[in-house]
Amino acid sequence: MAHVPDPQRLITRRTAFQAALLSWYRASARRLPWREAPSLYRTVVSEFMLQQTQVKTVLPYFAHWLEALPDFAALAAADEAQVLRLWEGLGYYTRARNLHRLAKALVATPEIPRAPDAWRELPGIGPYTAAAITSISFGAPAAVVDGNVVRILARLTADSTPHADGTRAVKASTPLADALLNSSNPGDHNQAMMELGATVCLRRSPLCTICPVREFCAAVRAGDPEAYPRLAAKKLEKITVVRAWCVHRGRLLLHRAPAGSRRLADLHELPTAEHLGLCEADIQKQAPLAVKKRGITRYQITEIIHPVAAPAKLAPDLRWAALEELDAVTLSGPHRRWVRELLAQL
Ligand code: ADE
Repeated sequence: MAHVPDPQRLITRRTAFQAALLSWYRASARRLPWREAPSLYRTVVSEFMLQQTQVKTVLPYFAHWLEALPDFAALAAADEAQVLRLWEGLGYYTRARNLHRLAKALVATPEIPRAPDAWRELPGIGPYTAAAITSISFGAPAAVVDGNVVRILARLTADSTPHADGTRAVKASTPLADALLNSSNPGDHNQAMMELGATVCLRRSPLCTICPVREFCAAVRAGDPEAYPRLAAKKLEKITVVRAWCVHRGRLLLHRAPAGSRRLADLHELPTAEHLGLCEADIQKQAPLAVKKRGITRYQITEIIHPVAAPAKLAPDLRWAALEELDAVTLSGPHRRWVRELLAQL
């Protein structure tokens, strides 16, 4: 007979579960800069950076950011170019713009809100970030739920309910996450769940032998933790982009994304055939200098960079950037790497 998940059994034992989780977290958690000497500002900056990005990538950005912009007032007063420059390479630049807007809103507000619902009204704050910030900074009883927490809960209860996508899985897992939350220390409980998902309850080859809550885990008892959660496979889409490498009189031709672009507003990239008003076949006449592959969400993107002669006339969104001043131009992360690589070959 198929296993029937029984969250009630775990909920009944929640006090013992919370205690095991918390004492493990206090003894074994990674020492991270936003956990040492925490402040609201450090918590907010780290939570924005950690959306869709791993801890090890975030660490140097976090240090650099705090040096340049040590508090909300400094961030609110910074200009957008500096904010984007500090974010350069982390990707998903909407986060940086929202963080900037959030600082301006908080500096202007007479009283900083403490409840997750009030935080949800602020720029860039979804349910996860609202719960993380308010539980860590104000002890608000709000459980964080993301892919890591979904995985932990599905395993604890051996829940093989199929979920059509991550959003629905989060929604379905929220009642159990709330029921298990340690209301006397929601901030550490939430961080312990994040820590468990990041370091022990891994998607592949989880480290069950060292898991602090293994005695509560139905998937371990069933012998197949990797089978949970059951998520529909993501449909990947392949995209090819043809780009131009055009260096002329010590300057590189770049495209600046329009201010209204959701993902890239005001960032520079190597221009595509379309930006130059050329068809791809024109650009492809010369052999490529580089072929780059990368993944963004569900897209698998192949970027092919060809040398191109300097165009006679430039569209308004194209500009020449002097090679020695490229460090001052905000490029998107991968483009910064490619430009460095290609310049080294000149
Ligand atoms: N991911 C999201 N928030 C986090 C935090 N505070 N610590 C570690 N990983 C996280």
